[in-house]
Amino acid sequence: MPDTPAPPAAQAPSPLPDLSGRVAVVTGASGGIGTGIARRFAAAGAAVVVHHRASPERAAALVEEITSGGGRAVAVAAELRAERAAEVVVGAAVAAFGRLDVLVNNAGVQPVTPLVDLTAAQWREVLASNLDTAVQLTAAAARRMIDQGGGGAIISIASIEGSRPAFGHAHYSTAKAGVIMHARAAALEYGRHGIRVNTVSPGLVDRPGLAADWPDGVARWRAAAPLGRLGTPEDVGNACVFLASPLAAWITGHDLVVDGGVSAHPSW
Ligand SMILES: NC(=O)c1ccc[n+]([C@@H]2O[C@H](COP(=O)([O-])OP(=O)(O)OC[C@H]3O[C@@H](n4cnc5c(N)ncnc54)[C@H](OP(=O)(O)O)[C@@H]3O)[C@@H](O)[C@H]2O)c1
Repeated sequence: MPDTPAPPAAQAPSPLPDLSGRVAVVTGASGGIGTGIARRFAAAGAAVVVHHRASPERAAALVEEITSGGGRAVAVAAELRAERAAEVVVGAAVAAFGRLDVLVNNAGVQPVTPLVDLTAAQWREVLASNLDTAVQLTAAAARRMIDQGGGGAIISIASIEGSRPAFGHAHYSTAKAGVIMHARAAALEYGRHGIRVNTVSPGLVDRPGLAADWPDGVARWRAAAPLGRLGTPEDVGNACVFLASPLAAWITGHDLVVDGGVSAHPSW
């Protein structure tokens, strides 16, 4: 018999809050976590706008998966650093479903570059992709929500690295710290319109091939995580659905850490 019990497995969650009639935009929904977030919103009954940059096949497959299961979804392509991209994405939600209730700023990049090698251009690229895009989309979504009469939820995917930097991630950690602070500031200013703004900070989320590509990192994570496993995209999606739902009606300006307890671990 082992000394310690096996870690609890990722569980298929039981009933989700009912988001039918709501319209949710998920940026970067062609990527690993974004796909999981879009799936959970669809499972909760929301109509989903599946945003991607340059992955039309993946976006189309996700739309097909949702619609063939009885849900509603459309895809929209946009390079989010481009001028007016935020208006294009919000406009796609309005064109397809007539309104916008939820924005999930999930798109982002995570290159690893030690500070001694970091160029000004690389710094700007990571800040633009992770922070500026969320700022512009939040503004465009809030404008639409206010035009609709107010109310809505905006969730930005930050990271536990927004609070604690990792090696080679100075640009990324700084961007995610900015995402958390921007959301808090937006919560302050949009609250009077009934718009709630929060962040979700995931820890290490599994993806196909991760254990093979980075075996020591995965092993260290498992050892450090009180819950003994990596996250799944659906774990992150569930947190987003919660924050978008009436269950979170009095929660705004909050950073919800979703990391299997790693942040609770002593760091020394
Ligand atoms: N993976 C983790 O362990 C982890 C942990 C904490 C936080 N996060 C955060 O979670 C989010 C998703 O991460 P992921 O691991 O799922 O990444 P991913 O699989 O690489 O997906 C990234 C997504 O963002 C899109 N994207 C990136 N830059 C874009 C731009 N300039 N304009 C438009 N779309 C853009 C990509 O679109 P295309 O594929 O079409 O290019 C893709 O859909 C990111 O914000 C990341 O920082 C991840």
